Amino acid sequence: MKNIKNDIERVLVSEEEIDAIVTRIAKQIDEDYAANDKKLVLVCILKGSLVFMGDLMKKITVPVEIDCMKVSSYGVGTETTGQIHIALDLLRPDIASCDLLIIEDIIDSGITLSHLTKYLKLKGAKSVRTCTLLDKPSRRRVEFTPDYCGTEIPDEFVIGYGLDYAEMYRALPFVGVLKPEVYTK
Ligand code: IMP
Ligand code: MG
Repeated sequence: MKNIKNDIERVLVSEEEIDAIVTRIAKQIDEDYAANDKKLVLVCILKGSLVFMGDLMKKITVPVEIDCMKVSSYGVGTETTGQIHIALDLLRPDIASCDLLIIEDIIDSGITLSHLTKYLKLKGAKSVRTCTLLDKPSRRRVEFTPDYCGTEIPDEFVIGYGLDYAEMYRALPFVGVLKPEVYTK
């Protein structure tokens, strides 16, 4: 059987580092959403944010509801197409009373989150904020700053902890850099 660990160049964010990041962000969210007039809804952007969202929601102590959206901007390669497609929409009749917090795995060009934030505001959400585990600021094509950010990373293609390349590597417990020969061969 193929050992996928052979495809990893190096670990970029270890399990221990991820745990510390998740703890810190959960604490910030607890403080920011402590007022009891808020209906906090964590919106997981499938599939990449599944693992981050699962860990984060367990550490948040203010009441939360969860929801999911599925958005795609990538084909099989490692470059954005510049267009996003909403494959699973947020269907909530109560959206006007929801404080949405979009949970994303990584921000690259910024196109996905900048579009989604505008879209959910237009749909009538009470508030929309964004939280990302990883951010590659050097790759921006549109200006975008998340409200919560785990850590900034250099311009390298990463996988693991929910992130994939061609649907592989999502189950790894750390974030790693993929060997370029895996996606250039
Ligand atoms: P953006 O719209 O360019 O900001 O792209 C965000 C989306 O691109 C993320 O939700 C990921 O699905 C994908 N993405 C960007 N960089 C990486 C990476 O290094 N590894 C895996 N997926 C990535
Ligand atoms: Mg994603």
